[in-house]
Order: sequence, then C-alpha cells, then structure tokens
Amino acid sequence: MVQSNQECFDVVMKLVDKACELVKNRIWASKTVTTKASAIDFVTETDKEVEDLLINGLKSAFPDHKFIGEETSSETNSALTLTDDPTWIIDPVDGTLNFVHGNPHVCISIGFYVGKEGQIGIIDVPVIGFRFTAIKGEGAKLNGKPIKVSGEKELSNALICLEGGTNTTPEKRENVVENYKTFYPIVHGVRTYGSAAYNLACVALGALDAYCEYGPHIWDMAAGYVIIQEAGGVFIDPSGGPIDLMSSRMLAASSAELGAEIAKKLKQFYPKRDDV
Ligand code: IPD
Repeated sequence: MVQSNQECFDVVMKLVDKACELVKNRIWASKTVTTKASAIDFVTETDKEVEDLLINGLKSAFPDHKFIGEETSSETNSALTLTDDPTWIIDPVDGTLNFVHGNPHVCISIGFYVGKEGQIGIIDVPVIGFRFTAIKGEGAKLNGKPIKVSGEKELSNALICLEGGTNTTPEKRENVVENYKTFYPIVHGVRTYGSAAYNLACVALGALDAYCEYGPHIWDMAAGYVIIQEAGGVFIDPSGGPIDLMSSRMLAASSAELGAEIAKKLKQFYPKRDDV
C-alpha cells in the first residue's frame, strides 16, 4: 500500500512528540555514556531508546518501509545502502556530545526518502522548542510558520558555520583549523553549534548563510537536505559538485553564488564514505 507524504508525516509526528519528551526529561539527568568511532563520538541510553521508539512505531505503521538509523547502523558497522524503497533515515539524538554536556543544541532528525528522493524532513530541537519541518513541494516551516534561506550571495556579508565533527585524526583536525583560518578573517562570523541537523536548520531559517562539514553521515544530512531545498537553499558537495548523501561531505548555502564561492576557497577533505 502506498501512503501519501502527509499520512506518513502525521504518523511520524506523533512519535516525535514522545521522543521529544524523552530528550527533554533526560538532558540534565545523569547518563550512561559510551564511545563509538572516536574518543568524542558518544552514545547514551537515550540515543538508543529514541531510535527504538521511532523505528518500532514506524515499523508497526509501515511494515514495508526500510530504515537507516544511526545507532542500529553503528552497532553493525556495515556499509549503508539507500534503495528506491520508502526509507526512514533517523538520527535519534543529533549532537550527542552536546547532550552529554547538557547543552541544548540537540536535535531529533528524521528524513523520509522514496526513490532516493527526500519527501519529508523533520528536525526537532526539543529543549529549545524549535520544530523544523518540510514536506516535498510544500515549503519549509519552523513551528508551523513558513521559513526561507537568507538568499545572501556575498561571502564578506555571510555568517557561516564550520563544524569540527568527531574525527580526531591529526589530518582532519588540521583541515578544520586551515579552513577556519581561511574563512574567519573574511566573513561576518564563524559559528559551531555541535549538531549537524541544527546547523542545517539554521541555514534553512536564514540564521546562518552557509555550513560546511567533512564527516557527517547520511542520518545527519537526510532531514536537513529536504528542509533546505524547501527553504530555497542549495545543498552541494564542498567541491561545488552535486551532493552525494553517502560521501560524508556537505555544503549548505543560502544561494548558488555563495555555495560556489565557498567551494572555491575550501581546503578539501575526503572522509570514509558511508557506503563502504
Ligand atoms: C554529530 C553531530 C556533530 C557533527 C558530526 C555528527 P551525532 O552527530 O551532528 O555536530 O559534527 O558530524 O556526526 O553523533 O551527535 O549524532
């Protein structure tokens, strides 16, 4: 049976409401924290509980749908595949390092894709009370009200975000510092919020003009991609080419001109892909 995007949206939002309560109740409570791919790549019991809540709820409503969830995928550590089947791509707690520190920039990020194309994007920031949503063709919203990217074209007028990520190798850290040195003196400011989904939502809102990161996974990008497209922004590879959700590389910008200008100046870095 084929459900409409609106039907899928209505079902998932009921689960997001429950997931938000869990995150809000846990953010300043004591947590069991373990590490994954690096010493600063954390997972808590809440990441797992939220992912189970969302996947189990969606599975019972849509038994034919597929799932790519951060915690389930991290446990198996196998190469990811996005097929043409209806697929929910879930980061249950994006910004886990923030969550561990009780910093409120923490999101529940959910993308729904069919035929590898984004249909629904949800980025909920429960502690702050921001709910970013988009359904393909219907625009992007914050708490139910339409939002748009800033449309900024000039790098010298831009507020940008460069995120360090969780890869602690010297090569990656050197790349982050190099790019910071390039952009910091020539833009209005450089921000780092610690949640890929939040950064993407800020570009869609016009609160950031661009955001680049090497190292995010498909679950960090899937919802933001839909929301940014619906808000009129661009979502490309940091080299300036088309985005590849498996590449662990992304550049979101408020205009094609700004995206191209940033891509020209960025020092490139190629992390391990999600599909190998
Ligand atoms: C991470 C955060 C972080 C970003 C990383 C992500 P997680 O997601 O979004 O800001 O720099 O690339 O992996 O691990 O907290 O879900």
